[in-house]
Amino acid sequence: TITPVGIHDLSFATTHYALDHAVLAERLGVDPDKFYLGIGQENMSVAAADEDIVTIAAAAAKPILDRHGVDNIRTVLLATESGVDQSKAAGLYLHPLIGLPNTARVVELKQACYGGTAGLQFAAGLIARDPSQRVLVIATDIAKYELGTPGEPTQGAAAVAMLVSANPAILQLDSQSGIYSADIMDFWRPNYRTAAMVDGKTSVNAYQKATQEAWTDYRRNGGRELTEFAAFCYHQPFTKMAFKAHRHLLESQGHTADAAEIDAAIRNTTIYNRTVGNSYTASLYLGLASLLDHTGDLTGKPLAFISYGSGSVAEFFSGTVQPGYRTHLRTDANRDAIATRIALDYDRYRVLHEAESPSDGMYHAIPEETGRPFRLAAISGHKRIYESR
Ligand code: CAA
Repeated sequence: TITPVGIHDLSFATTHYALDHAVLAERLGVDPDKFYLGIGQENMSVAAADEDIVTIAAAAAKPILDRHGVDNIRTVLLATESGVDQSKAAGLYLHPLIGLPNTARVVELKQACYGGTAGLQFAAGLIARDPSQRVLVIATDIAKYELGTPGEPTQGAAAVAMLVSANPAILQLDSQSGIYSADIMDFWRPNYRTAAMVDGKTSVNAYQKATQEAWTDYRRNGGRELTEFAAFCYHQPFTKMAFKAHRHLLESQGHTADAAEIDAAIRNTTIYNRTVGNSYTASLYLGLASLLDHTGDLTGKPLAFISYGSGSVAEFFSGTVQPGYRTHLRTDANRDAIATRIALDYDRYRVLHEAESPSDGMYHAIPEETGRPFRLAAISGHKRIYESR
């Protein structure tokens, strides 16, 4: 018999600040509808000086440990493509912040926006081997492009933490999945750069092709029919991308779907992402949180997931929403995390965007104190010093 494995709990955190796309549109001299309608974004989360992928990961994971404790968490998989160290896994900084157990292995995963899905699949494999174990998967990213580039309005930031276990309370994963990997330069970030490089049009086409190929592989492996799914959760670099990819998938299968039909399949997965922006590894799972928080009863319904990480790896997988899942959701906390962000003016956004991390090994206190539960307090002797309150 196959052990049912999947997402037992899911918690989301974002940054202290948000930039309204109306502010950006005015500054760039473009019609705000290019952002609202053209790419489907309204705001983007922006990290304060004392926030990074570690602080938002801690904020996402803490409620999960508060609810479930740390017993039997034997592995912590943290996925990011905006890591803070080339060697040390970011998850290790979480030990003093949220009380991770010393008896869990901790590693960092990287493959652009696909890393979170790698974490979820690896976790499922570990739990199939020993169903008494639980795995904490954290996807955490701050998406940053150069000012004035086409990518700028698609920035954003968020972390999603998931407790993966046997007999999950929220979503049981199907064992079938479809994969498509290929070497392509559509989006990348060399070691010496803090902002990503991107070939925008190539990336959009690559995403669509990879979706279609991963779907073909999923079907080859005995996956469900397209018509079975109650909703499609896509990786969302910008929410319009989910629309484009779904249209492409349907058309590649000979369906002629109208805009309303495509919209119905994806709409509720885009509500959070529209106001948070791209959160790379977390984006797909933020889409899942958005769907569950904004849709009536989905008990027993199959959901489709399309994960895409530039470079590139795509995976099409699926799962079934579990009976009683609603009592496990964190809808109020998720909405609060978004609603309580502080609106940035353009000048402050620009200062934050252009700030560089000190690299001289001296003591540098981080001047900004936003009062969040977890903060980067200083960088000293090339070490990052975090605090919790
Ligand atoms: N009103 C309504 N719509 C408008 C408009 C207006 N006034 N002005 C423009 N638009 C529409 C355009 O018609 C276009 O729509 P379609 O795509 O349906 O044709 C849309 O707004 C965008 O306009 P442009 O194509 O001119 O936009 P752009 O070239 O400035 O930027 C982009 C688009 C290249 C995707 C850019 O956002 C970008 O580089 N983003 C970063 C890369 C990215 O997100 N790629 C996605 C796939 S890769 C991936 O998924 C991994 C990842 O996370 C990065």
